[in-house]
Amino acid sequence: MRIIKLNATDSTNRFLRNLSLDSPVQDFTTIVTSQQTNGRGQMGTHWQSQPFKNLTFSVYKKLNLFPFESQFYISMSVALAIIKSLEQLNIPKLSVKWPNDILSANQKICGVLIENVIKQSVIESSIIGVGLNVNQLDFNGLPQAGSLKNVTGVNYDLDEILHIILKQLEIQLDLLGKDTNRIKSQYESYLFRKEKPSTFKTAEGLFSGIIKGVSEHGLLEVLIEDQVLKTYDLKTIKLLY
Ligand code: BTN
Repeated sequence: MRIIKLNATDSTNRFLRNLSLDSPVQDFTTIVTSQQTNGRGQMGTHWQSQPFKNLTFSVYKKLNLFPFESQFYISMSVALAIIKSLEQLNIPKLSVKWPNDILSANQKICGVLIENVIKQSVIESSIIGVGLNVNQLDFNGLPQAGSLKNVTGVNYDLDEILHIILKQLEIQLDLLGKDTNRIKSQYESYLFRKEKPSTFKTAEGLFSGIIKGVSEHGLLEVLIEDQVLKTYDLKTIKLLY
């Protein structure tokens, strides 16, 4: 494993992607930065993180995963790796809000952005970007965001947490393509608001339903009021509460 520490960069995902385009990159090469000036979030959003307070890093993982529809298994494995790492740190009430926001109680403490390189239906490699809020205390304008320190009051050593997560990522990603049923059932066991009546928003408006799980392609399975199970992708549905 090779860890490259940067004082600042625009985005560790972008940095690692450019590095991998220039020359072959060793498996598990990790880029970590104290300050991200243009961090990227899911669905084209921006990831904000106070300099020196949090973990912002990206891991290069060589894969040879077929078919490319198994992409969601990577997401599930990464979510499990983060949750298991945070369990080691005794962070309470951990869950994963579909598809891969990590929450403690109702606060989002970690976001994940995975960018896969797919050639001829094979996932060749993944860049796994993780933004974990660790010691930041103020999240002005982001009422649902929080940090480990917000939750426990403890000031954490960033390097120590990085090493715990990298170890867990190795363990969980090693199971990819081997124990798919277990990955999905474990992921579902941590799913936020599973089996609870919830409110969702789609282009047609609000509706109520109960999250039952996920499909293996990463669609959210929701039991809607008339007892019909429907599946939704990230672009069509938002879980409100
Ligand atoms: C989300 O929207 O929840 C995903 C956020 C992912 C942020 C991390 S920080 C390190 C890596 N580099 C980026 O530009 N984004 C990811």
